[in-house]
Amino acid sequence: VDLSTANTLALPARAERLARPADVDELARVLTGRGADPLFVLGGGSNLVLTGDLPGLTVMPVFDEVSYRQVDEGLAQVRVGAGVVWDRLVADTVAAGWQGLENLSWIPGNAGAAPFQNIGAYGVELAEVVSTVEAVSVEDGSNISFDADQCEFAYRDSLFKSRCRGEFIITHLTLNLRRGNACRLDSFRLDYGGLAERLAGDGPVTPARVREAVIALRQSKLPDPATLPNAGSFFKNPVVSLTHYQRLLERYPDLVSFPVAEGRKLAAGWLIERSGWKGRRLGPVGMHDQQALVLVNHGGATAVDVLSLAAAVREDVRQRFGVELEQEPVLMPGA
Ligand code: EPU
Repeated sequence: VDLSTANTLALPARAERLARPADVDELARVLTGRGADPLFVLGGGSNLVLTGDLPGLTVMPVFDEVSYRQVDEGLAQVRVGAGVVWDRLVADTVAAGWQGLENLSWIPGNAGAAPFQNIGAYGVELAEVVSTVEAVSVEDGSNISFDADQCEFAYRDSLFKSRCRGEFIITHLTLNLRRGNACRLDSFRLDYGGLAERLAGDGPVTPARVREAVIALRQSKLPDPATLPNAGSFFKNPVVSLTHYQRLLERYPDLVSFPVAEGRKLAAGWLIERSGWKGRRLGPVGMHDQQALVLVNHGGATAVDVLSLAAAVREDVRQRFGVELEQEPVLMPGA
């Protein structure tokens, strides 16, 4: 099965066998029938680098249910299947006046991938709104429910992506939402990326207005995978020690960074831009001219092109700033 349209970097690759289970029973049957074949799980394909063909079985969960449960006057929960398009969910909850997901607007991919990499944007991470994550164990097909604090969420990371990689297939998530229209201003997260400025002076802040502002900001920098294939941020924003940060700041007074518990988080986009890579190409790939952290496929690229550029960028940033960039999208099949 051709996967070139199933990954947003538009890399050429094939799956030996592809299953699209629509519910937990079907998924269990698919897993039982797999035998000893290798197993891969694919969602919206927006955060991965397909390094070659996928042998064995590739599972693309298409669970599509969305159900709401009102907990009390101010709190609702939405339970969503892994195959639901993430931004469809955000749009629906926001349109219904529920608060909680608006900062996470316009992120490509499916709901099932959201807890896997703990998606985050504009000062909010998925971890903050998760109630539970349901999954099927690959080993024995059993259903398991994880509370948020069992998911080992960290910056762009979770139990599913790291410690227990490959052990679970996420089937559903349940998220906490608040009643939006009655929300006080201080319950919104507006302190990041110029959101507050964009919303100032135009009447009450609502989830819908925050969503609009986030979409405008994202569209002004991030390329649309439909016209310029990419996988979003290609590296994580690196965290360095305060000593390292101070040394860099002396040399580069305009260094962009944020305080974090472990030291200082640097803007990888800034490091890459200052290494001369913004808008620069290597073969058919390049770093985006509006956001240097996004690696784009200008047409016809292979995984070798992508990984060569990533290595060149990483090397230049290491040489110039002594900072190690960590790749954000996962490799499939792995290294
Ligand atoms: N910057 C530059 N040059 C660039 C890009 C960025 O100097 O080419 C500097 C600017 O000073 C800018 C700052 O870096 O103000 C931060 O840039 P931006 O607001 O675009 O955010 P980011 O740190 O590059 C992160 C996430 C994005 C998320 C945005 C907004 C990571 C790896 N990326 O990017 O997530 O949308 O914040 O919250 O944490 C993704 O994960 O795929 C993704 C797009």
